[in-house]
Amino acid sequence: MNLGSIVDSVLDRAVVPGYSRLGYRIREHAWSGDPAPQALRGKTAMVTGANSGIGKAIADGLAALGATVVMVSRNLERIEGARAELAAEHPDADLRAAVCDVADLSDVRRFVTELGARLPSLDVVIHNAGLLPEARAETADGHEITLATHVLGPVLMTELLIPTLAASPDPRVILMSSGGMYTQALPVDDPEYRVGPYRGATAYARTKRIQVALTPLLAERWKPDGISVYCMHPGWSDTPGVVTSLPTFRKLTKPLLRTAEQGADTAIWLAATQPAPPTGQFWHDRRQRPEHYLPFTRESNADRARVWAYCAQAIGLPDS
Ligand SMILES: NC(=O)c1ccc[n+]([C@@H]2O[C@H](COP(=O)([O-])OP(=O)(O)OC[C@H]3O[C@@H](n4cnc5c(N)ncnc54)[C@H](OP(=O)(O)O)[C@@H]3O)[C@@H](O)[C@H]2O)c1
Repeated sequence: MNLGSIVDSVLDRAVVPGYSRLGYRIREHAWSGDPAPQALRGKTAMVTGANSGIGKAIADGLAALGATVVMVSRNLERIEGARAELAAEHPDADLRAAVCDVADLSDVRRFVTELGARLPSLDVVIHNAGLLPEARAETADGHEITLATHVLGPVLMTELLIPTLAASPDPRVILMSSGGMYTQALPVDDPEYRVGPYRGATAYARTKRIQVALTPLLAERWKPDGISVYCMHPGWSDTPGVVTSLPTFRKLTKPLLRTAEQGADTAIWLAATQPAPPTGQFWHDRRQRPEHYLPFTRESNADRARVWAYCAQAIGLPDS
């Protein structure tokens, strides 16, 4: 391990410096090269939650690399506004606005049916949409809202997009998790958070943990179609989501928070770097990261399989 690598790992374990803009600033001098200019020319990428924060910054970065970008949001007006802003910055880019509520499984099915008919192939999908709710809420399908938004919707959407992804020579799927997942174990017995007092931050971190735990299984599942899957966390970025959901955290940490662009960096890098990084891993700041720091969060393969079986059944898939 060289000195840069040791400093990087210390930053990660110390959390505050690593997740903040300090970590980004220190690491960016040492990390592997930027994707080549126009690395995504001729490719099509889709980003959910692209009207705001990190998702909008990801769409911006993908467009700068030459990709056709499908910007997905649950609100037409908001996504048209974001698309128009990016189009002004990238007059030559092909930016498309699309509407889907990723937490609503029927809407995911409708969206893929309509989108699948329009796209000959799809090279990158970035499941960025996320939320930290104030109170427990259920979707129309009866699923807890963070589970539906962070796990069920993204997995169903990817499953339905497999034929379109498989038409790409190098399809990549990225799940946007959070460093908050380090604090939570896999909710094996209660994935829908029905037991105990509900805390939005706990629900958020548990479902971000599920994303990390399922990534190796999804990598195996999607490997026969040539699809690579990555999970990542963006550090702490100053975004509209943080303003609304974590006002006290933002007040205390504001000078240290990353920009949305810095939070978006690893997603853009995973989408565009060559060769494709190894599938099934967890990433932050362009490096593979441990899935656990606290012993009580470790799960067994059987635990992962149980949570996968639950999710597969919830979205109507065979679990093998
Ligand atoms: N900012 C951070 O420090 C941080 C740290 C760790 C992880 N993350 C993750 O990074 C991602 C982006 O977060 P952000 O900070 O940029 O937050 P943000 O500004 O609130 O953006 C979240 C985006 O997700 C969209 N969204 C939420 N639920 C949706 C649904 N059901 N269907 C479609 N879109 C939906 C939001 O749309 P609306 O505008 O309609 O609400 C918004 O566009 C999230 O997954 C978040 O958990 C962020």
